[in-house]
Amino acid sequence: MSEHERWQGRYSIPDYLFGKTPNYFLAACKPLLPKSGKVLCVADGEARNGVWLAEQGLDVTSIDFSEAAQAKAAALAKERGVTIKLIHTDVHAWDYPPDAFDVVVEIFTQFSTPAERPRKWAGMRKTLKRGGLLILQGYTPKQLEYRTGGPSEIERLYTRTMLEQAFGDFRDIKFTEEEVDIHEGVAHGGMSAVIGLTARKP
Ligand SMILES: C[S@@+](CC[C@H](N)C(=O)[O-])C[C@H]1O[C@@H](n2cnc3c(N)ncnc32)[C@H](O)[C@@H]1O
Repeated sequence: MSEHERWQGRYSIPDYLFGKTPNYFLAACKPLLPKSGKVLCVADGEARNGVWLAEQGLDVTSIDFSEAAQAKAAALAKERGVTIKLIHTDVHAWDYPPDAFDVVVEIFTQFSTPAERPRKWAGMRKTLKRGGLLILQGYTPKQLEYRTGGPSEIERLYTRTMLEQAFGDFRDIKFTEEEVDIHEGVAHGGMSAVIGLTARKP
């Protein structure tokens, strides 16, 4: 089964796989968000995060390769009375427009292999405007002890060193490494080891 088929299958349930409320780390970043501007949500799935960002007054572009997820994203946006732009694409192959977004959000996108990850992160760097805000959260290798969500391949999990190598030249860098009880839809449930990053493109 391809990764695309696997995600289509996961999203075929009536419920929202990751729920309808935004990821807690993203919501905690609210004070950092601009009052207006363009946001890119990378692999945004059913758009619980994209829709919340649109509710904050931001102009949201939500990219993902699952048609099933994006149908649910459109329904959630309609339910909440907001508009988001949905682009159906592979995040490793998308032609990220240069200097286009004020904020780029990457929450739980650890489907990328080590070979694919640099393409995703290079695109995210390129598409952020100078001074633009990066918000990211992913599982750390300690998550393999919890197994409450995320991939089981250790090489897909994020470490501080890995993120420093990719974004160490950014300014206002803040890492949040924590073990927290996360409940997001039916997919993420229980104690989890995560790392968050906020930073601005130099
Ligand atoms: C763990 S889910 C997280 C979804 C969303 N970020 C959230 O927090 O609710 C990962 C998402 O990545 C998408 N995905 C996986 N591989 C992808 C790829 N190569 N290109 C685009 N989207 C992909 C899946 O369809 C899924 O929506």
